[in-house]
Amino acid sequence: MTSVQQREIWNTKVGLVFALAGNAVGLGNLLRFPVQAAQNGGGAFMVPYFISLILLGIPLMWVELAIGRRGGVHGFGTTPGMFGLLWRHPMARYLGAFGVLIPTGLVVYYSYIVSWCLGYSFFSAAGSYFGEDTRTGMGSFLDGYIGVEANQHFANLGAAYFFFAVTMLLSVWILSRGVVRGLEMLAKVAMPVLMLLGLVLVARVLTLDPLPGNPEGWDISHGLGFIWNPDLSSLTSAKVWLAAAGQVFFTLSLGFGAIQTYASYIREKQDLALTGLATAGVNESVEVIIGGTLAIPAAVVFFGLAQTREIAEGGAFSLGFLSVPVVFQQIPAGQFFGCLWFLLLFIAGITSSVGMSQPAMAFLQEEFQISRRKAAIMLGVGLFILSQPVILFMEFGFLDEMDYWVGTFGLVVMALMEIILFAWVFGMDNAWEEITRGAQLNIPRVYYYVIKYVTPTALLVILGVWGYQDAFGVLMMDGVAEEAVPYKWGARLLLLALLLAIMYGIHKRWGGQPPDAPEHMPKEGDA
Ligand code: ALA
Repeated sequence: MTSVQQREIWNTKVGLVFALAGNAVGLGNLLRFPVQAAQNGGGAFMVPYFISLILLGIPLMWVELAIGRRGGVHGFGTTPGMFGLLWRHPMARYLGAFGVLIPTGLVVYYSYIVSWCLGYSFFSAAGSYFGEDTRTGMGSFLDGYIGVEANQHFANLGAAYFFFAVTMLLSVWILSRGVVRGLEMLAKVAMPVLMLLGLVLVARVLTLDPLPGNPEGWDISHGLGFIWNPDLSSLTSAKVWLAAAGQVFFTLSLGFGAIQTYASYIREKQDLALTGLATAGVNESVEVIIGGTLAIPAAVVFFGLAQTREIAEGGAFSLGFLSVPVVFQQIPAGQFFGCLWFLLLFIAGITSSVGMSQPAMAFLQEEFQISRRKAAIMLGVGLFILSQPVILFMEFGFLDEMDYWVGTFGLVVMALMEIILFAWVFGMDNAWEEITRGAQLNIPRVYYYVIKYVTPTALLVILGVWGYQDAFGVLMMDGVAEEAVPYKWGARLLLLALLLAIMYGIHKRWGGQPPDAPEHMPKEGDA
């Protein structure tokens, strides 16, 4: 195993930014963000959110792009190889296993939720849930769909499996076409469509009339005010800071391993500074303008503030799949708008789920010389098998447990690891040179110090407070219903098995070789 298949590179700059933004923009922007904002006091959330974006999100985006581009130049598309370049120690590659585990573990359940969106856009167009015009009614529709109960809508999981299979086949097809003909092509079509759908829906929500009989007399301005009126009192709440930082990671796909893989297909001297800022800019526009205007303000108009808080406490599924469909049932052409809403979620979701699948693709292709087509099929089948417990044990919190470890806690651990390797082990002068090479934008020098001191310190504090306040309790399963305990253990074991399998792969590929073993071939276009 001395060489790899020729590595691909992004065809155009616009394609690159769309692909990175497609990777980042996802269910997190449209469902997770409004729920986090509403759960953490609306306007109170936004101040820590923007501070986290500037001190954590943007610097980490540059760091991940730089680690990835450097990896790609040496023929590595995933963090095991990339970390080996930053730290010439055999341990580095094993640490890099987390950058394959996290996106792959995430996509195991993320792609299932993406498939619900496809299903619900079909059900909206067909009017299947029309008539279930309360949240309880929509709850029973969802319970039927995900197999928690058999009811008049669904007798079994057949429909859920059907839409999941369609979603997986589509993903496998896109992945098997490669970086330019698959990922870039998808992004170039999907991102403009997503913006258009988002803006149509924003226009519709902004013109919603208050519901007659709405007891609190709320209208759309109250809905927007709830999210946008800043409240500085939150600055002293550790919980709100953690939620804000967690949202910034999730929405920008940072600490995943996925941005690094996309960046490995960038030319050696191509700009990262502007690319990173543009990616964050597109993602934040979709998040705050579209995500912040749709679900929560619409819920405030229809349900009032107290119920909206209750909906947000119920989480992203309660907001997206129970409350929004009730709103659309009350307005003219509701089937059409409902279909657009779920299509918007589906498009946002699929561009992220292929983005999260690409590290595993690159790992299989580059480390084991598996052809792209075979790798895509192997991955599709593997993900389908791994997602079975998520589908079958949904009501026992299997998905939530996976989401906690890979989708929340794991991101911060991974981000801390990579910034230490990059800024401290590889060295901040080298790191700064990597980030600024070919830059079309002067990154203010202050970011040299932010990346070296502020971001790692903030990550350490987050991890410390989180570990103390939350993770230990979750680890010990405090407050978990007895019947759910075995399933939650199952989720942990599944992630552990996946991690061990990736580490075994790294061992097979690299074990016994010195840490500075010859690297893969450079890619096309780099002298
Ligand atoms: N960044 C992706 C999202 O927001 C994972 O959904």
